[in-house]
Amino acid sequence: MERLQKVIAQSGYCSRRKAEELIQQGKVKVNGQLVTEMGTKVSEQDAITVEGKSISKREEKVYYLLNKPRGVVATASDEHGRKTVIDLIATNQRIYPVGRLDYDTTGVLLLTNDGELTNLLIHPRNHVEKTYIAKLEGIIQKQDIDRLCSGVVIDGKKTGKARAKIKKIDKKTNSSLVELIIYEGRNHQVKKMFEAIGYPVSKLKREKFAYLTTNGLKSGEYRMLTIKEVKKLYSEAHKVQ
Ligand code: URA
Repeated sequence: MERLQKVIAQSGYCSRRKAEELIQQGKVKVNGQLVTEMGTKVSEQDAITVEGKSISKREEKVYYLLNKPRGVVATASDEHGRKTVIDLIATNQRIYPVGRLDYDTTGVLLLTNDGELTNLLIHPRNHVEKTYIAKLEGIIQKQDIDRLCSGVVIDGKKTGKARAKIKKIDKKTNSSLVELIIYEGRNHQVKKMFEAIGYPVSKLKREKFAYLTTNGLKSGEYRMLTIKEVKKLYSEAHKVQ
């Protein structure tokens, strides 16, 4: 059950404030009955008309692709009052990030109000591919790459299928750049996987989420997905690999 003025606003008919005015002015009916009381609760089943027009209770679905910068939290709100990824996006819709990226992780982050797509994308059963580029302290060895791919134990449980390859070794700074592709989304998974084999991560970027990249987006920039891109995400999430 939701408050009537909120449901009207979510339908895109007008703002919540305007909806309250319309209710007070006697211009709103629920199941044919005039409702002037503020805060009346309605359900999906109730038929609502405003100024004689029936409204759709379904919120328009929106999809944003953000190139997440370092130093913002990837949650809808932060208990410590830090800046969140939602603050970076100019929208009135109640969107949330699909999965997590750490405060200091950069790269591809999808934000939406589409709960169905979110569930499909984050469910491990659907094997959605996530590609990370990690900068490591130390020079990684070939056998360590093999260990990552066959699974390492983090938080008492072995990680699933993964692919990894060395992108660059820098002896001068004693660091390595590794691409790691995973299909799960456990908490701090990438950092923990590298820690488990003895290489702390000093920088982490998500380069790809499913097929989405940050191409054309500077750090902190975002764009809306096209309908075609959304359909492709649905079909990737459905395709068990
Ligand atoms: N794994 C991590 O450790 N951190 C992230 O932000 C994403 C994946």
